[in-house]
Amino acid sequence: MPLIVFYTFFLVFSVIHDSTSCLLHLLLLAELFVHSSSHPTHSSPLCGTFRSMIHQVDKLTSLPKKLHDLTDDGDLFEGVENRLDSLPKMQHTAAHFNSLKVNESLSQLFEFSQSFRLHVEWLKTAKENFSLSSQSAEDASSHLLQLSNLVNASLSQMEEEVPQSPSPSLPVASTAFDVLQFSVEISKRLQVFCDWSKRILLLLQRLSHCHKH
Ligand SMILES: *[C@@H]1O[C@H](CO)[C@@H](O)[C@H](O)[C@H]1NC(C)=O
Ligand SMILES: *[C@@H]1O[C@H](CO)[C@@H](O)[C@H](O)[C@H]1NC(C)=O
Ligand SMILES: *[C@@H]1O[C@H](CO)[C@@H](O)[C@H](O)[C@H]1NC(C)=O
Repeated sequence: MPLIVFYTFFLVFSVIHDSTSCLLHLLLLAELFVHSSSHPTHSSPLCGTFRSMIHQVDKLTSLPKKLHDLTDDGDLFEGVENRLDSLPKMQHTAAHFNSLKVNESLSQLFEFSQSFRLHVEWLKTAKENFSLSSQSAEDASSHLLQLSNLVNASLSQMEEEVPQSPSPSLPVASTAFDVLQFSVEISKRLQVFCDWSKRILLLLQRLSHCHKH
């Protein structure tokens, strides 16, 4: 296409003025066309990684409800005191979503996924202590690990510092009922985390001009 444009101009101009200064103008014009046509909006090299992150979040989304064996979403536990203060608190305000920065959001996503992974691993041990099935906790932990590895890789790629999160101090679950309560609490918060992460990642894709697939 630029070549055709170049030749058209060349023919038109060379018929009218056959001078060296005109040729110079032509070359500049041609350069301009070549540049403007070979620079479509760049999508970030992070786009592929964002897609993989969303894939992990989608896998994770089905798991919170399986962390406890209740059929009613644990609604019986509505109003039960939140006991795990160390669980991350996600910001869901419009102001937060409107002022997203890629680096800051990825740092947060890294900290949160690490923190949830540590809580889920702790829950897995607590369940094992009472011979309860811990498969769902193990699956959740594995997706959280893959997610935080992907986020870590992106942060390194952006030459951003990878935040170091301190290990949460978690209580001992001394009865099976404790374990059930903790399962419900982690399950609910993990569900919120999944929704939050998905929303953040879709926004980051848009900020980075990633093409939708
Ligand atoms: C994110 O990047 C901006 C500049 O693009 C910088 O000002 C800010 O300090 C960075 N934030 C973090 C948490 O690294
Ligand atoms: C599981 O049992 C071990 C050994 O009794 C104990 O040290 C650990 O704190 C228990 N884990 C949880 C999460 O309660
Ligand atoms: C992040 O990834 C680097 C390798 O790229 C690794 O050395 C480092 O331990 C990872 N950090 C965390 C906190 O997982």
